[in-house]
Amino acid sequence: MSSFDEIRENTKNHGVAVEALTSKEGLALGKKRNTRFIAVTSGKGGVGKTNIVANLSASLSELGKKVVVLDADFGLANLDVLLGLTPRYHLGHMLYGDKNLSEIMVRGPEGIYIIPASSGLHQMSDLTLLQRNRLIEEIRDLDMDIDYFIIDTAAGVSRNVVHFLISAGEVFVVSAPEPTAIVDAYAVIKIILAEDSYKPIRVIVNSVKDEYCAHEVFYQINSVVERFLNRTIDYFGYVERDSHVQKAVKSQMLVTQRFPNAPASRCFRNLAHRIVRNETWAFEGVIVEKLLNDWIN
Ligand SMILES: Nc1ncnc2c1ncn2[C@@H]1O[C@H](COP(=O)(O)OP(=O)(O)OP(=O)(O)O)[C@@H](O)[C@H]1O
Ligand SMILES: [Mg+2]
Repeated sequence: MSSFDEIRENTKNHGVAVEALTSKEGLALGKKRNTRFIAVTSGKGGVGKTNIVANLSASLSELGKKVVVLDADFGLANLDVLLGLTPRYHLGHMLYGDKNLSEIMVRGPEGIYIIPASSGLHQMSDLTLLQRNRLIEEIRDLDMDIDYFIIDTAAGVSRNVVHFLISAGEVFVVSAPEPTAIVDAYAVIKIILAEDSYKPIRVIVNSVKDEYCAHEVFYQINSVVERFLNRTIDYFGYVERDSHVQKAVKSQMLVTQRFPNAPASRCFRNLAHRIVRNETWAFEGVIVEKLLNDWIN
């Protein structure tokens, strides 16, 4: 069975159209230019990271980009739930079992590739050398093929999360307009910059009325970063507060698919366009060994 068959075989889908693997871009894995590693994080939980990762990835895929999403929220894997997928296997089966990455990867909406996590992966930091090498090799293979490797982290600043953040080429920090979210966004930025003062950090403001409100939120975060950390960060964009998002979540579909003309869907597509247009930003990227070694050690 080819790895593509395995991915298809492994994807049980409820409510989301899983794209046929023989579609126009389905068999192109293997010969791609540099991959951009983007970690999406937040200080405070529940500010919309997973929705942003999922909708952004699908929108990038719509633009013809090959996207792999790693669900790195090991405590509470929820990307697959959000997408209405029931993957048979997850990272634990690879790290502690005999599955390889292609066997655990599933395909989601717009043909994005998803590496599912699961709860119960707390032992990730105790990987053996063998497991470590295996994971490195498997992701290195993916690295050859894909345009965007997007990491949906857990909220907060656990060791795993911080290692993902400092290892990724770019970090998107998501904040909501609430003061608690803003303060926590600053806290996570401070930790990232303490580890790597040159790390490119961009802020996405979620659940705001309009772009003006998003700018205000960004301004608050950036002014504290400038004042106390002597750095500036970038505003990347915003997503409107939109009840269609909640409705889509309830039906386990992406808002961009369920309600393509909803305000939030337009915002997600704008973000995707912005990422693609700025492709020349592609920082040196991380080599996958660094990504994984930093994370594991
Ligand atoms: N733009 C938005 N408009 C309205 N509701 C939203 C928006 N973005 C997110 N939500 C709501 O917030 C909830 C939490 O979103 P999501 O799960 O993406 O957050 P998260 O940051 O990934 O959370 P966690 O920290 O638990 O991983 C969603 O179920 C959705 O109902
Ligand atoms: Mg989440």
